[in-house]
Amino acid sequence: MSTNLTFPAGFIWGAATSSYQIEGAWKDDGKGESIWDRFTHTPGHVIDNSTGDVACDHYHRWPEDVKLMKSIGLQAYRFSISWPRILPAGRGAINQAGLDFYSRLVDGLLAAGITPFVTLYHWDLPQALQDLGGWPSRGTAEAFTEYADVVSRHLGDRVKHWITHNEPWCVSILSHQLGEHAPGWRDTAAAVRAAHHVLLSHGWAVPVIRANSAGSEVGITLNFEAKLAASGSTADIRKTRIEDGTFNRWFADALYGRHYPADIVDYYSPHFPHGFDFIQPGDFEAISVPTDFLGVNYYTRVIVRDTDAIDNDPQTLFPDLPQTEMPNWEIFPEGLYNLLNRLHFEYRPPRIYITENGASFSDGPDESGRIADARRRAYLESHFTAAHDAIRNGVPLAGFFVWSLMDNFEWAKGYDQRFGIIWVDYNTRQRLLKDSAIWYRDVIAGNGFSPRL
Ligand code: FCB
Repeated sequence: MSTNLTFPAGFIWGAATSSYQIEGAWKDDGKGESIWDRFTHTPGHVIDNSTGDVACDHYHRWPEDVKLMKSIGLQAYRFSISWPRILPAGRGAINQAGLDFYSRLVDGLLAAGITPFVTLYHWDLPQALQDLGGWPSRGTAEAFTEYADVVSRHLGDRVKHWITHNEPWCVSILSHQLGEHAPGWRDTAAAVRAAHHVLLSHGWAVPVIRANSAGSEVGITLNFEAKLAASGSTADIRKTRIEDGTFNRWFADALYGRHYPADIVDYYSPHFPHGFDFIQPGDFEAISVPTDFLGVNYYTRVIVRDTDAIDNDPQTLFPDLPQTEMPNWEIFPEGLYNLLNRLHFEYRPPRIYITENGASFSDGPDESGRIADARRRAYLESHFTAAHDAIRNGVPLAGFFVWSLMDNFEWAKGYDQRFGIIWVDYNTRQRLLKDSAIWYRDVIAGNGFSPRL
């Protein structure tokens, strides 16, 4: 197939999922309870009070899922490991059945010619560790390092791409300050402590993984949003800078050796009357351990309005911008282009993978079983194009993982939001390729595509 937007040779095309969102089998074979089990089993946290108890039943259907991946031609698959499947109490006794599950999955992927990219933490903390204080407590960072050791020791001969954490902002701020994700806290100081311990656990785990998995690439995935001031007012601009700082710079600055950004330290300091006493000597050196790549999750732009300011412009938020079905998730591919350039020029990661990008659209099967999700294809096409433009600028982008391989449990939004390139019927658990998956197969086969005008 000839394409007029061709990616560099060796560019990796993949798709991503996470354990809690697809596996189900929430207490099979010795798995311990996670904070997401507890959170979803408590009514009022998820829009439709749904849970991940069964989800896509991937735990039982993974061979079929690997076949589907192969039929699309995926070169890599990013999935996460459920910590409480491996260490039901968070630390200590290993559940061999949990390790065996992932070991079989890895073997199945390799046999299908698909490279596994393993995320160690995509939010399903063992509840037992939550009971001891969770991420706001430093002990959780120690426990994570032990867990990373166990997993990389058992899979490190075959897995050569490791992501320590998925989206530390979500683990800390969204879950501990904004209360939207498990454990559902609303405590800014706890959230900032959680953020520090997540980063610290990353720094401690990287050398452990490297020692167990010779020749592997190790990195971390951050989520970034483009932030734009709603107006030129001083208040909006100030607030935008804070949003960019708490969301984007806080994590990247620490990881790339700049400590925490001074303006955001000031911003958080009223929450710490006794200072940032949770930061200990050596922490920043650990956090800024060199990594092999930066994983980037990008979905949307946020237009920032300081609603408290009296000197502000009228309260318009551009209501007509094109959006996906995730409430307020605008379609803004330029944001990905700008972000990749910014990360490259400001932080110089040796390599970048887009570890998540995709869109929620609910298009389902017609009478013939076809799923015409043209809007998802257009979303992906525009973001692939933005990625290609960034590569032309010299950004060392090495791969792109579409979120998501299949429709799944979208956290507090339940099953209403469908991000998959594969449709999942939640009554029968039947899977069907959407048009976007078929188009993606051709993109992968041609290592590029001809944009539709
Ligand atoms: C990201 C998460 C992923 C999925 C997408 C839509 O923040 O990493 O699990 O929910 O958003």
